[in-house]
Amino acid sequence: MITRLKNAMRGAQLGWKKRPPVAGRHWQPSWLPLEIPFGLESIAHPHSPEERAGLFLTHNTGSTEIETLNWLHATICLTKPASILETGALDGLGTIALAAACRDNGLGKVHSVEIDSGACERLATRMRRHGLSDFVAVHCSDSLEFLRTTELVFDFGFFDSLSQIRAEEYRICLRRGIIRGIAAFHDTSVHRSKTLPNEPAAAVQDAYRSAIRGLAQDPRNSGFFEHTLSRGMFVIFPEANGAST
Ligand SMILES: C[S@@+](CC[C@H](N)C(=O)[O-])C[C@H]1O[C@@H](n2cnc3c(N)ncnc32)[C@H](O)[C@@H]1O
Repeated sequence: MITRLKNAMRGAQLGWKKRPPVAGRHWQPSWLPLEIPFGLESIAHPHSPEERAGLFLTHNTGSTEIETLNWLHATICLTKPASILETGALDGLGTIALAAACRDNGLGKVHSVEIDSGACERLATRMRRHGLSDFVAVHCSDSLEFLRTTELVFDFGFFDSLSQIRAEEYRICLRRGIIRGIAAFHDTSVHRSKTLPNEPAAAVQDAYRSAIRGLAQDPRNSGFFEHTLSRGMFVIFPEANGAST
């Protein structure tokens, strides 16, 4: 009886906060703050039909799709990493998904490396507003420089800075032995250059894809998974004995 009353009160409380459906969908991931709006990926970002972007949601053009963020959140909840790397934070959507997973796990910290000082300030403010500061360290730095010098070791990496440098970020991590968990690379769609010919140029996108595929063959890794819809994602798994603690 008391539980039912509590649920009814909670329902009434949430009722006025409910977000209107996007393209007929009522999905609101529990980790995503209600005040962050999102719409269709196919409107925010040009795509070719093979990428099926009409099935994806996003906050804006530069931020990661909600489905991809939700995968990150779920994977962090499953694998329980203590130390997480994010390269490129922009508006902090990736950082929110990763840090909320640390909060939900009751452990872990996201090290978000962002080169733009304005974005770093906004990120720190945003994390405070959402009560996630305890789960995030903002490193206002060039990711390559940061990875060449940091003494941190990462159990999970989300590589989301510039496509041109993401493979090199991971190479540094491997060379220095500072990553020992899953590495996820965003924006790997094979179709990207059909609709975004200069972001990056087709040759750069091809080089990015082939470098990541090559790195997946490194004997320190045990395999990979590629998701080809929307902006795409390529995930490299470490060998089993290097898995996160
Ligand atoms: C695609 S956005 C990141 C989106 C974010 N991770 C998310 O999930 O919504 C790329 C970001 O990388 C940053 N960036 C570009 N070059 C960088 C570098 N060398 N080091 C660190 N950050 C960089 C840009 O300033 C930009 O904010």
